[in-house]
Amino acid sequence: MSKTAYLTTAIPYVNGAPHVGHLLDYLLADVYKRYLETLGVSVRLQAGTDEHGSKIWNKAASLDLPVQTYVDNNSARFREFIQQLGVTPTDFVRTTDEAHVRRASAIWKQLKPYIYSASYEGWYCSGCERFVSDSEYKDENGVCPDHATPFERLSEKNYYLKISEFKPQIKTAIESGTMRVLPAFRAKEVLNLLEDSPDVSISRPKSSLPWGIPVPGDDSQVMYVWLDALTNYLTVLGFPETDIADFWPPTAMFVGKDILRFHTIILPTILLGLNLPLPKVVLSHGFVLNDGQKMSKSLGNVVDPFDVLARHGLDPLRYFFLRHVDTFADSNFTWDKFEAAYSGELANDLGNLASRLATLCAKNSVALSPNARADLDSALASDEAYRTLMDSFEFSKAFDYVWSKFQALNKRIDTEKPWSLAKTDPETAHKSLESLLKDFLSAVALLAPFLPETSNHLLASLSAPTISPLPPLFPKSGR
Ligand code: MSP
Repeated sequence: MSKTAYLTTAIPYVNGAPHVGHLLDYLLADVYKRYLETLGVSVRLQAGTDEHGSKIWNKAASLDLPVQTYVDNNSARFREFIQQLGVTPTDFVRTTDEAHVRRASAIWKQLKPYIYSASYEGWYCSGCERFVSDSEYKDENGVCPDHATPFERLSEKNYYLKISEFKPQIKTAIESGTMRVLPAFRAKEVLNLLEDSPDVSISRPKSSLPWGIPVPGDDSQVMYVWLDALTNYLTVLGFPETDIADFWPPTAMFVGKDILRFHTIILPTILLGLNLPLPKVVLSHGFVLNDGQKMSKSLGNVVDPFDVLARHGLDPLRYFFLRHVDTFADSNFTWDKFEAAYSGELANDLGNLASRLATLCAKNSVALSPNARADLDSALASDEAYRTLMDSFEFSKAFDYVWSKFQALNKRIDTEKPWSLAKTDPETAHKSLESLLKDFLSAVALLAPFLPETSNHLLASLSAPTISPLPPLFPKSGR
């Protein structure tokens, strides 16, 4: 296993407040980061905010706010949001940062051999910030399915990036797994898209969109927001001014399924144009849905993550979004499902089990032996089934696997009945409790990347030389 890793998250547009759909990139990257760190890897985690483009410009104008003030405020909200999720990026980039602007311009200049200018007329969705093909326009009856807004007709002079130049290398990288696209069925979709992908427009006339990074050498144009945004993964590390070889290429990039194509077609073209290696893994997660529909600011059906945090605190939020939201498929969020997971699983399966064990161990003076305590440090590294799931990025399945251990322990404690054994056969009761406690704590160690607070708390209290009864972990009323 490599000693260093670089993990990345998509940088959200700051045209509104964070919503629960934005959680997944951060939570998935954070789980993987914590997992790798337990294995001794030094991890760099990037995050940031995407602050240029027409939808941000239009939103600030509609609120009658100076656009810089608007993006300053919203970028700060995203930073706060990330921190409240218990996620700590090592590097944070704003696309309006002077250093990003300077480095993105330098990247443009290096890409010049693959850039040309031409006129273009086509259909555009400013929600997606992309042109759609005529057939996509027809299939969707002229309305973007993700944003429920009609496509606009744009006719412009633009600069283009030659996707055609590197298609064969990108295809080989995906097919050979040098750049793994996850889940696997999406790799096929990307290969189909790549086949038909035309060269992409990478600039907009300043006259129709003044809010962007000026195109070097042409004051009448600004960079297309996606070109600007995709370079963030490099600029945040200091490229091209700094040597990034220790952390490039990314070990894994975490993005939603709607933006996979940008990360597996346009980004690889930029990287190959710069003579840089491609990411090892691009993982696309599904959508968080509300009543079967993508949650999005434009559709106005979003759930506020701060409301979810206020309900029961951080670990219940992480629990729901990491276990009940499948890592790769779309999943619905409802308050009912959230509450059922809280009381039926966190409070019952885990909270009750922990309290029962603590009480029984306290009563019967049971504690872990120093050897068993030392074994806990390697519990995560040595569980092969868990490692296989985590190494293949099957996080919700790995979480299920950990949970099945708690469910099995609940059954065991009910079958072995150490509380009644204690009356008739204290020695067997002691052994049973010792073994239950050891297996419980090994499972709790596997929980650490998912529910760090709960895992640390349980490991500290139940691996102590003397165990005391625990206050309820997930009380009925929540916080
Ligand atoms: N600014 C671009 C990303 C540029 S990355 C170089 C963007 N921003 S976004 O705000 O629309 O989305 C940010 C991330 O949140 C993306 O990974 C996107 O897929 C994810 N999600 C936004 N809404 C979502 C759901 N309802 N469900 C799950 N994730 C979705 O795209």
